[in-house]
Amino acid sequence: MSTARRPLIAGNWKMHKTVAEARQLANALRAKVAAGGPEVVVCPPATALFAVAEELKGSAIAWGGQNMDWHAKGAFTGEIAPGMLTDLGCTFVIVGHSERRTLFGETDEAVCQKAEAALANGLTPIICVGETLEQREAALTDNVVIVQVQRALHGWTAEQVAKVVFAYEPVWAIGTGKTCESQEADRVCGLIRDTLARLADQATADGVRILYGGSVKPETIAEQMAKPHVDGALVGGACLEADSFAAIANYQAVAR
Ligand code: 13P
Repeated sequence: MSTARRPLIAGNWKMHKTVAEARQLANALRAKVAAGGPEVVVCPPATALFAVAEELKGSAIAWGGQNMDWHAKGAFTGEIAPGMLTDLGCTFVIVGHSERRTLFGETDEAVCQKAEAALANGLTPIICVGETLEQREAALTDNVVIVQVQRALHGWTAEQVAKVVFAYEPVWAIGTGKTCESQEADRVCGLIRDTLARLADQATADGVRILYGGSVKPETIAEQMAKPHVDGALVGGACLEADSFAAIANYQAVAR
């Protein structure tokens, strides 16, 4: 990755951890994640956010939501407003995860509205894009990813584009143990950057962090981070244990 972009390691806890377990994990991470490394953020389930915020307050680890609605408030049963996340001290929110898209019908238009609302509320959206196995096998990867990026940022200014984080998460690599080859992950992250350059400008695109996600493990992180367009990781399974997530977050120490 470029030295101009600070590496970002994000953990998506998905639908795991009770409040007690979340406190324990947050505390262990506080102890194990080395200072002075990449920026680190954890995204626990909404039910554990308050507790995790209490545990991580004053530490170098940030916390964020896994999803949110774009309305400020109102009759939206089951949803969480951007201001509710910031109220808990969140600074990030994952938007458009493939599980939201495929299991809960989240559209590109909804992803765009959510990401825009995140920015308007001072949250950094981590916008997820990526192709399914069928799309990859049909050689549609590039097209799918480019269209997802274009639609997520539809009508945005360069100033807005500058504030987002993208995550390239090939759906076939999520939770399967099949990591995307680092060369290929880098190629697609580069494609996302080219798309950002066309939507905004090259300088803006060069400043945006693009993460790779999909079966990231302590053993794969250093090789991945050595690629020029990969600026970090969005970690699922391996972020549920303090040792493995800390090993990923401390990859620079591991690599030495
Ligand atoms: P895994 O690391 O379990 O493959 O999950 C990746 C992911 O979906 C992170 O958002």
